[in-house]
Amino acid sequence: MPDSADAPDALFVLAPEIALSLRGDGHVQISVGGRHHVASIRSLGILEQFARPRPIHEVVEGLRAAGMEEFIESTSLVMRLRDEGVLVDATRGSVRVASGFDKPWVHVAMLDDLTRTRAFALAIREVVRPGDVVVEIGTGTGVLAVEAARAGARRVYAIEEGGIAEAARRVFEANGVSDRIEVVRERSTRVKLPEQADVLVSEVLGNDPLAEDIVGIFGDARRRLLKRDARVVPRSVDVFALPVELPDEFLTSHTFTDRNAARWQQALGIDFRPLATFAADIVNLPNVKPQEASRWSAVADPVRLARIGLQAVDEPPSEMVTSFVATHPARVLGFVLYFEAELAPGIGISTSPSASADDNCWSCRVFRAVGRRDVAAGETIRLEFSAATGESVLRAF
Ligand SMILES: C[S@@+](CC[C@H](N)C(=O)[O-])C[C@H]1O[C@@H](n2cnc3c(N)ncnc32)[C@H](O)[C@@H]1O
Repeated sequence: MPDSADAPDALFVLAPEIALSLRGDGHVQISVGGRHHVASIRSLGILEQFARPRPIHEVVEGLRAAGMEEFIESTSLVMRLRDEGVLVDATRGSVRVASGFDKPWVHVAMLDDLTRTRAFALAIREVVRPGDVVVEIGTGTGVLAVEAARAGARRVYAIEEGGIAEAARRVFEANGVSDRIEVVRERSTRVKLPEQADVLVSEVLGNDPLAEDIVGIFGDARRRLLKRDARVVPRSVDVFALPVELPDEFLTSHTFTDRNAARWQQALGIDFRPLATFAADIVNLPNVKPQEASRWSAVADPVRLARIGLQAVDEPPSEMVTSFVATHPARVLGFVLYFEAELAPGIGISTSPSASADDNCWSCRVFRAVGRRDVAAGETIRLEFSAATGESVLRAF
């Protein structure tokens, strides 16, 4: 296989960490990767040609006009710069490993959730008035900031703490709105803006709706970044628990059960029954898509755990205790946590197993009841909910 760099159309570009200094004798010192190379001053013109990726033959052809002697000299200089690593194969440039919200696929899922994205766009068009100053917290790919600019915002501050901010900047340029949108790469709680905003837009709703600190983020923004009567999108978030019977297959795949211990005893000859006692007080299970949870049997109607008005509340809900009566029996009682957010009057999104759309990008948190497994129809179950640590915890007795 020929090396890609030997292919005639291979693209070369200046090594990223290159440093140049002009020497007193009229030569140029080119430093790259801790090594120093000395070349004639003519090399500056050649280096300039490789500021963007280009095939070597294209640059060399362009040098012909200068005369045969210079052409030969420049060609060998180009080859030397390549051999010394001053020019590098552009296709072998630096690589990145994305994490957190810099992962493109996280944003693909969010943009592809057109129910979500269009609902936010619709709400922004309802709420933003021409001439408004808008703050968007967590702009990601920039989609909601573009919508705010298109709704007539005079200025949009698109705040994003992650590297995806650079992607948003490119989206703003490509859509002709970069003159009205200012990208602020910083966590919102550390941002200082030159003016206070009329509107806050922010989609920082996690699978666990409060876990991305939407309450703290909105509270901080209200105190420092917004005008007193500012409008906010979303306006409120309601958190619900749907009591369900946890299916055997789900439990088998995700926790230490007697059934698993029996399988492993047979396959491996080891007694794993103690594992179930270790897991007995662990309430959380892996998230499920609401579409999957919609196939689980409901034990009672959903229970509202919290109603959070984002125009006023500053603190996540402290512990709340409630109870419900089972309308159906269950062998293993569990709960699916979901939310409903009101984005603007009459415009909402939901991750409810019974109401979420097929393209929904969120998952729901799942909990099981501790201290009890089965429940009979007509039984009263006590439910405790807390989100004080930023993560929702459900206990049922
Ligand atoms: C759920 S994504 C939403 C992205 C985009 N607005 C959309 O609707 O597709 C949330 C984004 O907010 C960013 N983020 C979360 N909290 C933030 C904060 N307090 N300050 C700045 N950025 C934040 C994350 O890095 C992430 O890119």
